[in-house]
Amino acid sequence: MKIDLNFSQSHVDELQLRDKHVVVIDVLRSSTTVIAALQNGAREVIPVASIESAVKVSGSLFGDVTLRGGERNGKMIQGFNLGNSPLEYTELTVRGKSIIFCTTNGSVAMAKCRYARSMAVGAFVNMSALIEYIRGLNADVLLLCAGRPPAAGAFSLEDSVCAGMIVHSLLNHQGGGEVVLTDASQAALSLFKSFGRSVKKMLKNTDHGKYLAEIGFSKDIDFCAEVDAVPIVPVLSGTVIKLRKDGVESAA
Ligand code: MLT
Repeated sequence: MKIDLNFSQSHVDELQLRDKHVVVIDVLRSSTTVIAALQNGAREVIPVASIESAVKVSGSLFGDVTLRGGERNGKMIQGFNLGNSPLEYTELTVRGKSIIFCTTNGSVAMAKCRYARSMAVGAFVNMSALIEYIRGLNADVLLLCAGRPPAAGAFSLEDSVCAGMIVHSLLNHQGGGEVVLTDASQAALSLFKSFGRSVKKMLKNTDHGKYLAEIGFSKDIDFCAEVDAVPIVPVLSGTVIKLRKDGVESAA
């Protein structure tokens, strides 16, 4: 199994992802929010790359079962129902709903995966479930870090450390098959070894973590730091993200 990695979604286009098994990582906060939404009973999350696409897609769906969620500069987009805080996506709010999801980097990375062979959503909160899923693929994997605002896809320490934790776990648990690393996945591993000892402390000290605290989302950081709190794996099925059912998306 070769593990490759990209440090930002802005450096890849959808054709480069064609036929690959991709894991999209946007720890703060899109990946964590999608995981929370599906854990709390959302029917599906529909990732879109722009507000215009969100408006277009919601026009084609029934209003009472659809919510629009997402952010610009970390805050809820005007006219949307939800922002990008995982804590907003409670069972009461999202159960049974289709969520059209538009964020600065995370949803863009997810939407770019439409030609990928598979796409799973990864974060600290679903680490062990994700590792089990990747091991089940038994195929080469690309870890796609979304990156952080304000610039599209700026380097994000939290996404890279999370990717490094994935690499570290796969190296330790592969059991049989060889794990081959690229320069990028080795670099992420090294970042995990330097910064991964306390995930919460690391998140609080990142550029985006500090920004989120400044605008009132400190509690999101605590939630995003909880390794293995949510044992599910969201996967792309066509153009929507759903809860993975055991074994269904494994590589042939
Ligand atoms: C993004 O997609 O860039 C982030 O998830 C931004 C955020 O924290 O809301």
